Amino acid sequence: MQNLDLPLDNVTKGVAAVFENSARGFYLVAELHSDEGKTDGTSPETSNGLALAGCLLITTEWSDWWNAEYWWIQSTFVLPQFRGQRIFTSLYEHLTGLARTLNTTPGAEDGETRLRVSEIRLYVEKQNDARFVYDRLGFQDSGYLMMSLSLRD
Ligand SMILES: CC(C)(COP(=O)(O)OP(=O)(O)OC[C@H]1O[C@@H](n2cnc3c(N)ncnc32)[C@H](O)[C@@H]1OP(=O)(O)O)[C@@H](O)C(=O)NCCC(=O)NCCS
Repeated sequence: MQNLDLPLDNVTKGVAAVFENSARGFYLVAELHSDEGKTDGTSPETSNGLALAGCLLITTEWSDWWNAEYWWIQSTFVLPQFRGQRIFTSLYEHLTGLARTLNTTPGAEDGETRLRVSEIRLYVEKQNDARFVYDRLGFQDSGYLMMSLSLRD
């Protein structure tokens, strides 16, 4: 959700929780060398000393229908100064590459080659222009109506 004022300490704990328990998901991070793109010195540095350009979180959902996972793209963000430089496209291509490799490689635990990632999914607010980006990359309306019941208050 855009323009949401989230308490930083709680978000920081939320991010740390992913690193503490990999069952919660994993991040993909795009980093740029200073000679790539417009690294104007305003971007936070990553642990490699590179400029942070964007990231996304993948969470997984089990599908008993497909005996495989759905991978959900969450928390997608490209820093404003790097938008339109195909940073998200690179993250997306890396992600689909990972999923296709998993689907065509014998599993470490059972030695079987089978479908492990059935779909890559995401949700986006109807008024968010990000929907055009997803459209361009081939995502389609799933036909599901997403509903939620908040327990935060
Ligand atoms: C949405 C977002 C992640 C896109 O990242 P990006 O790195 O700028 O996207 P890319 O450069 O890879 O763009 C992919 C394609 O979409 C097009 N595109 C990018 N922004 C667009 C926009 N606002 N409207 C229409 N098309 C757009 C690009 O031209 C490109 O098309 P091409 O492959 O034909 O050249 C970025 O704008 C962002 O962080 N937005 C704010 C946070 C947000 O809304 N996140 C999504 C939450 S669901």
